[in-house]
Amino acid sequence: MTSFPHSRRLMQRGIDFLGAEHAILCGAMSWVSERNLVSAISNAGGFGVIACGAMTPELLDAEIAATKTLTAKPFGVNLITMHPMLFDLIAVCARHQVSHVVLAGGIPPKGSVEAIKAFGGKVLVFAPTLALAKKLLRSGADALVIEGSEAGGHIGPVATSVLAQEFLPELAADHVVFVAGGIGKGDMIAAYLEMGASGVQLGTRFACASESIAHPDFKKAFFRANARDAVASVQIDPRLPVIPVRALKNKGTEEFTAKQREVANKLDAGEVDMAAAQLEIEHFWAGALRRAVIDGDVESGSIMAGQSVGMVTSEEPVTAIIAQLMDESEMALSR
Ligand SMILES: Cc1cc2nc3c(=O)[nH]c(=O)nc-3n(C[C@H](O)[C@H](O)[C@H](O)COP(=O)(O)O)c2cc1C
Repeated sequence: MTSFPHSRRLMQRGIDFLGAEHAILCGAMSWVSERNLVSAISNAGGFGVIACGAMTPELLDAEIAATKTLTAKPFGVNLITMHPMLFDLIAVCARHQVSHVVLAGGIPPKGSVEAIKAFGGKVLVFAPTLALAKKLLRSGADALVIEGSEAGGHIGPVATSVLAQEFLPELAADHVVFVAGGIGKGDMIAAYLEMGASGVQLGTRFACASESIAHPDFKKAFFRANARDAVASVQIDPRLPVIPVRALKNKGTEEFTAKQREVANKLDAGEVDMAAAQLEIEHFWAGALRRAVIDGDVESGSIMAGQSVGMVTSEEPVTAIIAQLMDESEMALSR
């Protein structure tokens, strides 16, 4: 058996932090990252993360319990910071003694990091700027994920390569930092490890694994797509800031433009305030993603995918994907 000595040496801090064989996280993907994919990733030596998304505490409770029956390896739970029941969800994680909680979708609200640490959970956060990253790490976050605009799903404006150059030299010596966005091959993993990353997070590359419950038509759309098909949504009204989403272009991406117009008109008419307007936009995405992933509606559903989608060409088991990534990383580091 190959042991990937070069890669594992550079991943050591990430490996120790995650308690996994390899410091490769499968980033939480709403509707996709449920018990089957999460347990498969952790069983294969990676680190799976349940996407809580808009789940109720009861649903999350059931999902964690079910995942535990499928793997004895560590896995994490991703919670969206703007979830109205965030603290109840943290309490569910506490009851299950979840080892790692990822706080995504915004700055963690006051008390949330403390509540996770209080039950012994490790906290991973995202930070769009270096200043915010330093602040979050000072105030108790245990590790950082930097995610560039190549990624699938909700994205920031800056490319992974630029974030890596800005964040890693400042933070990697003293902190666990995982790099996400646009990683399709192990060569790229090797590059970020050499820059000081403790590990990486991939989503797109794992979304259509054999163990993923995504609808066959969702998977087919991935296998057919090229990098240029995974486009970021465009904001049409300067008053209505929408977080861009990267997805395969289809009728759904056009419908999003119409949705924005509808919500902007409601704002104009004073029918909704800004918070309600933004929530309506987020509900649009959640519903559209479900339609694509679960129902296989690849026409008007949202096929969230990163630019690495062109490197996903067939359905493979998670073990094969991880083995290939580690092989490629090792070859690159041995050269
Ligand atoms: C279909 C899909 C759904 C996603 N949903 C979420 C989510 O619910 N929460 C989250 O924090 N990130 C979400 N992401 C981002 C992934 O966790 C991961 O960070 C990202 O896919 C990494 O970049 P890559 O797509 O280039 O590999 C999603 C990504 C995809 C492709």
